[in-house]
Amino acid sequence: MVQTRQSSASSGTQAPAQAVSTWSGQAREQAVQRMFTAIAGVYDLNNTLLSFGLHYRWKKITASFVPQVEQGTALDVGAGTADLALLVEPRMGTNGRVVASDLNHAMLAEGLKKVDVKGRTGKIACLQANAEHLGFTDSTFDAVTTGFCMRNVGNLPQAVGEIRRVMKPGGTFVCLEFSRPVFGWLRALYDWYSFKLLPWIGTKVARDTTGVYEYLPASIRTFPDQERLCQVLREAGFRQVSYKNLTGGIVAIHVAVK
Ligand SMILES: C[S@@+](CC[C@H](N)C(=O)[O-])C[C@H]1O[C@@H](n2cnc3c(N)ncnc32)[C@H](O)[C@@H]1O
Repeated sequence: MVQTRQSSASSGTQAPAQAVSTWSGQAREQAVQRMFTAIAGVYDLNNTLLSFGLHYRWKKITASFVPQVEQGTALDVGAGTADLALLVEPRMGTNGRVVASDLNHAMLAEGLKKVDVKGRTGKIACLQANAEHLGFTDSTFDAVTTGFCMRNVGNLPQAVGEIRRVMKPGGTFVCLEFSRPVFGWLRALYDWYSFKLLPWIGTKVARDTTGVYEYLPASIRTFPDQERLCQVLREAGFRQVSYKNLTGGIVAIHVAVK
C-alpha cells in the first residue's frame, strides 16, 4: 500500500543545493521532496549510470548483513524504488514481511511498481513515512535497513533514535551511505567527479533544473564520515557498532545492534 497522504512539500523557490544540504526542518524536507518527486521516474537509470552500476552490488552486500530470521519483520527506511527491500525480503523467512517506507510518494510509487513486477506485493508493503517520525510502535522490527537516505534527513540523531525505537531488542540496523574515501588519490578523483563532472553532466547533458546534481555531492560532504557515524549510532544507544568500507570508502555499510 502506498499511502496517498501528501507531505508538506509544495512548489517554491529553488534554493542552492549546498544550502539545502545544511538546512534542517521543514525547509529541507520540502526541498528534498521536490528533488525526489522530479527524478523518481529516472532514479534507477540515473543511479546505474552515475555509480557505473555499482549501486546494486553495494545493496546486495548491505542486505547480506541482515540476519536471517524465520517469520521476521524488516523495515527499509527511505526505501525509494525498493531495491533494498526486495533484497532483504528473502532473509525474513517464508512468512516474513518487509515494510518499505519513504517520505516521497513518487519514489515509493516507483518502488511499488517494482515490487508488483517481482510478484512480492504480499510480502512487501510500501508506506509513506518520515524517518524522523516513523509511525510504528516500539520494538516492532527484527531488522531495519536504509540505503542512501540518512544523508537526506533533517535531523540525523532524531532519525537514528527513531529507527532504534521501532527495532526489537537484539535487532540489527544496517545503514548503507556515502562516506569518506580512504585513499588520498581516490578522494581527489572522487571530488573531481562529484564537484566538477557531475554538476556539468547535470546542466549540460541532463539539462537538470532541480539542483540534484549539486545537492548529491554537497550532501555527501556534510554527512558524518565512517567514525563520526559510529559515534552518532553509539550516542543513540546502539551497541556492537561496526562498519565496512566498499569501493575504497566511497560508501560504507554501518551495522549496529539494539
Ligand atoms: C537516494 S534515495 C535512496 C533510495 C533507495 N534506498 C536506494 O538505495 O536506491 C533517498 C530516498 O530517501 C528518501 N528520504 C529522504 N528524506 C527522507 C526522510 N526524512 N524520511 C524518509 N525518507 C526520506 C527520499 O525520498 C528517497 O527516496
